Amino acid sequence: MPNQIPVFVSSCLRGSFFCLAIFLATPAIAQESEADPARDALIVETLLRLDSFDLEAKPKTKAAVLRFLAMNRGSERFFQLIEKFKIKDAAGDLLELAIAQPSETVGVEAAELLLKLDAQQAMDETLTGEDHARAAALVTALGNVGGQAVNDHLMPLVTAEKQPLAVRAAAAQAIGKTKSGADYLLSLAKEKQLPADLNFTAANILFASPDPAVRESAARYLELPVTAGATPLPPLPELIKMPGDAARGKQLFMTAATCNKCHVVNGEGKDVGPNLSEIGSKLAKDACLISILDPSAGISHNFETYLAVTADGKVISGLLVSKTDSEVVLKDANAIVHTLAVSDLDEFAKLPTSLMPADLQKTMSAQDLVDVVEYLLTLKKK
Ligand code: HEC
Repeated sequence: MPNQIPVFVSSCLRGSFFCLAIFLATPAIAQESEADPARDALIVETLLRLDSFDLEAKPKTKAAVLRFLAMNRGSERFFQLIEKFKIKDAAGDLLELAIAQPSETVGVEAAELLLKLDAQQAMDETLTGEDHARAAALVTALGNVGGQAVNDHLMPLVTAEKQPLAVRAAAAQAIGKTKSGADYLLSLAKEKQLPADLNFTAANILFASPDPAVRESAARYLELPVTAGATPLPPLPELIKMPGDAARGKQLFMTAATCNKCHVVNGEGKDVGPNLSEIGSKLAKDACLISILDPSAGISHNFETYLAVTADGKVISGLLVSKTDSEVVLKDANAIVHTLAVSDLDEFAKLPTSLMPADLQKTMSAQDLVDVVEYLLTLKKK
């Protein structure tokens, strides 16, 4: 019997839908529960050609579809099936795809389907969850879908006090792609309702607006950080277009820009922040620039800053090296390691800010900055 199915189906595919309906009702399909990817694929092909089919009423067919989805995550058929049969069980898979590749077609399509399925709960759990990098990635994927429905979801996040900067900045970035979203950011700035830590993100969005009236108005309420000689920084889209000199950037990294006081590259430099030996394989030019200019907007995992205040008034902020019931070990911005007894601590908390200073560009020109980034981009995975 199984050998006859493909012949039957292929002639069916050329034939009538009636014939396909009979195929789905045949005992071999309806009652076989054993996993067989080839047969699952046939069932899927058949289902996709039917005008309608009540999957919920046919648990075995549904099981075949779910097996197919699990094995073909992100494929064209995967998306077609979920959309056609509104398969809510797939919300978890869609969520993972959106988070893993928020700026790729696959992730954006997944986010779009999450919206169509109205998978509010799955999205909310991620958006308000502990893992801020996942929340920010989902926001980015939704932003890449775009449109008013997305803005309605994301606008409240921009000013949500409980959300970390990484999520709020991603939300501002996402809505800023639309006219209504940019207008909203501008009105927040005008009314002094824009959280101060979003100045950099909002200024970059609005200063790069194609509408001169928006740019002009934004300049009255927002400013970008200043570079050396009190010259204002050009907006990110302009910085991205500037060509850089990697050799000069390397020189700056090791000296005036002080990056090597905290970052190791190929065995050289102090080990405070992440090792940057392969950063060019991880971050694109825009992300590198944002990492330097607005470090708190996307703090790398395991590099969150902690603040400890001891009973005798010592205040130490640094990265968490280790923590036990009796001892906390912090490494400060000068790479000095402090071991503190838990019984001595008056206060111990995670800070929302990066240990990386937010004003490094103050002593650099825009060209210096672009050169340093050009150097970072040459640091690829070996
Ligand atoms: C006082 C220490 C310090 C200095 C100085 C410093 N950084 Fe950092 N940097 C950090 C820390 C800590 C992190 C991790 C937290 C975060 O992501 O903000 C980091 C993160 C980064 C990242 C993101 C890394 C990743 O894996 O995502 C880049 C890129 C970076 N720094 C580049 C630079 C450059 C370029 C300079 C010099 C212009 C510099 N840093 C100066 C401490 C520092």
